[in-house]
Amino acid sequence: MLQSHNPVDASWTGSPIVLVGLMGVGKSTVGRRLANRLGVPFVDADHAIEEAAGLTVTEIFEEFGEPYFRDGERRVIARLVDGRPKVIATGGGAFINDETRALILEQATAVWLNATPEVLAERVKRRDTRPLLRNRDPLTVLRDLAEKRNPIYALAPIHVSSKRGPHEATVNAILKAIGR
Ligand code: S3P
Repeated sequence: MLQSHNPVDASWTGSPIVLVGLMGVGKSTVGRRLANRLGVPFVDADHAIEEAAGLTVTEIFEEFGEPYFRDGERRVIARLVDGRPKVIATGGGAFINDETRALILEQATAVWLNATPEVLAERVKRRDTRPLLRNRDPLTVLRDLAEKRNPIYALAPIHVSSKRGPHEATVNAILKAIGR
């Protein structure tokens, strides 16, 4: 059996693991695989917001603006971080919000997935559903966001760098960091 389908010995029973970091770093892909390896549910916070609103992230930004999205994001993450073991992938701005970050730091284990803006710019080309990148040069936006946000992501207790190459390496690095 492939290693990626092979859950570890016993399911993870610790606090929720919350993946934070910039757009394109692979929070959803890595999160899904990590949850599989740990034998716990995976939740994508952006999808949970879309479900709650009945609109896509892009539509929420366009129709109601970013502050409205951030408020919904804060409420949805508060609901998801309920003490039950799971892996949660957050949208890139979630951990930047003071209230959301405080909640995650108190009630979950935050993992910062970090990659260079150059690697991220290559990865974001695969989807054009990110309102902050629409009609803008992704590398310029990502460099700017990295400068502003990296000191805040760095408040997460676990830092894992994600390089070019298979996401499984990142999953393994997280498992090691949480002692599995
Ligand atoms: C955002 C990241 C997106 C999404 C929204 C805003 C951000 O999520 O929440 O477009 O502020 O960095 P991903 O990081 O999953 O792309």
